[in-house]
Amino acid sequence: MILVTGGAGFIGSNFVLDWLAQSDEPVVNLDALTYAGNRANLAALDGDARHVFVHGDIGDRALVDGLLATHRPRAIVHFAAESHVDRSIHGPGAFVKTNVEGTFTLLEAARGFWNTLDGAGKAAFRFHHVSTDEVYGSLKPSDPPFAETNPYEPNSPYSASKAASDHLVRAWHHTYGLPVLTTNCSNNYGPYHFPEKLIPLMIVNALAGKPLPVYGDGRQIRDWLYVKDHCSGIRAVLAGGRVGETYNIGGWNEMANIDIVHTVCALLDELRPDPAGPYARLITHVTDRPGHDRRYAIDARKIERELGWRPAETFATGIRKTVQWYLDNAAWVANVQSGAYQDWIGTHYSAR
Ligand code: NAD
Ligand code: TYD
Repeated sequence: MILVTGGAGFIGSNFVLDWLAQSDEPVVNLDALTYAGNRANLAALDGDARHVFVHGDIGDRALVDGLLATHRPRAIVHFAAESHVDRSIHGPGAFVKTNVEGTFTLLEAARGFWNTLDGAGKAAFRFHHVSTDEVYGSLKPSDPPFAETNPYEPNSPYSASKAASDHLVRAWHHTYGLPVLTTNCSNNYGPYHFPEKLIPLMIVNALAGKPLPVYGDGRQIRDWLYVKDHCSGIRAVLAGGRVGETYNIGGWNEMANIDIVHTVCALLDELRPDPAGPYARLITHVTDRPGHDRRYAIDARKIERELGWRPAETFATGIRKTVQWYLDNAAWVANVQSGAYQDWIGTHYSAR
């Protein structure tokens, strides 16, 4: 079996659902259910004995030690993190606590467990750390995309905390021999994406007739990958990646934010026309994010060369599926928009 952390969040829940759709290998899912964790994402697994959900913190060493001793996983796939750049600007402490200290605790627990294994168990074990392309900093328009050899130049509290966690993972391999893998992926989008991030926020705001807040000139560029392609990339690296290596995962799809927003508006115009007029009328340029990285882009040739992985979706197919998913899952959206999420939106946007 495998231990997944953060498996009630956006990417983690997609990963767990996809994993159990393709294999009968059980998953122990450790998640603290912060504002970003949502048990409803895993509703399809209710009553499924292959999925054991544990409500708890990766920073709780006794809990993690107990889970490892009881379930004896052959791998840990580590998604749990604070993940939103805007939140990291307002409150960086939680990012250091979970992303840095939490990863440290998880690594120490993994090392303790790994040391109890016999030679074959030790060789087969994997600690797979899920990270981001944001650790590499910001690209100029003419720079080549991020390769695994790029220096780390994180610019936000979020990316700095993820960079720190990547460094810890690397050190636990070089110092203690823990068999680690790290993947650095570009911006994901798809089902179960919490509507504080660009794409789901634009969809749910548009449907509610609310402004679509575009930071600054909207010409910032990100590489966008459909979440299920990220999950298949992680599975490929977990299965065949070389221990101690990092693999960049991306969609070969650089787009400016404003073009993303126009694409979402055009799809909504087609699928759920608004009698009041085209959704693009709601686009509102707001104050830019402090320290906003201008461009991210991923060179995903290493994972393709070594493991034969390429994304299955184009942006056109992936974004259509995503917009349709939000139209079909209004109850999920209403659920996540209650409570803490509303408070956050109120504080964050009232000043803009
Ligand atoms: P998310 O914020 O949607 O989910 C994070 C999950 O971790 C939530 O379920 C939350 O409850 C859980 N969690 C938070 N703190 C925890 C703790 N201390 N102990 C246990 N669980 C905790 O994030 P996401 O977008 O799904 O990202 C998952 C991982 O992938 C993160 O490590 C992130 O850095 C990385 N990543 C995300 C993207 C992206 O575009 N979203 C891109 C590349 C990499
Ligand atoms: P986001 O989804 O927060 O991901 P990240 O900052 O990790 O790349 O933001 C994606 C891009 O969209 C980023 O350049 C910031 C921008 N953005 C907006 O313009 N408006 C918004 O309301 C949000 C949430 C993001």
